[in-house]
Amino acid sequence: MNLLIMGPPGAGKGTQAEVLVKELKIPHISTGDMFRAAISEGTAMGKKAKEYMDQGRLVPDEVVVGMVKERLGKPDTGVGFLLDGFPRTLPQAGALDETLAALGIKLDAVINVAVPRERLMARLTGRRVCRNCGASYHVMFNPPQSEGICNACGGELYQRSDDNEVSVGNRLDVYEAQTRPLIDYYQAQGVLKDINGDQAIDRVLRDILASLF
Ligand code: AP5
Ligand code: MG
Ligand code: ZN
Repeated sequence: MNLLIMGPPGAGKGTQAEVLVKELKIPHISTGDMFRAAISEGTAMGKKAKEYMDQGRLVPDEVVVGMVKERLGKPDTGVGFLLDGFPRTLPQAGALDETLAALGIKLDAVINVAVPRERLMARLTGRRVCRNCGASYHVMFNPPQSEGICNACGGELYQRSDDNEVSVGNRLDVYEAQTRPLIDYYQAQGVLKDINGDQAIDRVLRDILASLF
């Protein structure tokens, strides 16, 4: 299945993607994770991306589009994929359509995880992420079994540098201005699945799976 998961920062895209890709046996393509990997490798692209990310601004379209095109061209996407955090602007969505058309494939579904804005600040400022495998936790809503340690792999949990109040405020504004319009774009393509993300993590997962099968 060729899938896309979208929603505002903190909607639970990464949390749901982690389980979905295991169930569906498809690769998880998260542009945010790809940028964070580039930052920890210290590449030139990572250094540039970090400036935008820490301010809660979008990395320029041409950088993201090039990176995703290259990723979708790899052979492991032949079984399908789950895109997370891309596209985020209308030009990115147009570029994705072109890339998929060139590969002779289409999106099967766009999962839109909706959460009211007032819930998102608390979700993001309380998030902790595994340095090793990228799993997301929350100090209140989804705590790990032992504090500071990943349940899945034993890795160290850390707080993302863009999970502070100022960056989160900007990310939420950027979402409203640039990414929310994609809901209508995919509605018009007839592939949108609206999911209520303001419920327990396992309920959200159940609703996503029900919308796909
Ligand atoms: P990215 O890493 O994609 O961040 P984001 O979109 O801001 O989304 P998040 O990862 O913050 O949220 P999520 O929906 O994955 O939530 P999660 O599951 O972790 O992008 C980061 C930056 O990279 C961007 O700001 C931009 O600069 C750049 N970038 C990336 N892609 C780009 C693109 N295409 N174009 C340009 N720039 C790009 O959950 C959040 C928290 O809530 C966790 O603590 C979790 O445990 C908790 N939680 C999850 N579900 C629930 C639930 N149901 N109930 C209670 N708590 C929950
Ligand atoms: Mg994420
Ligand atoms: Zn881990």
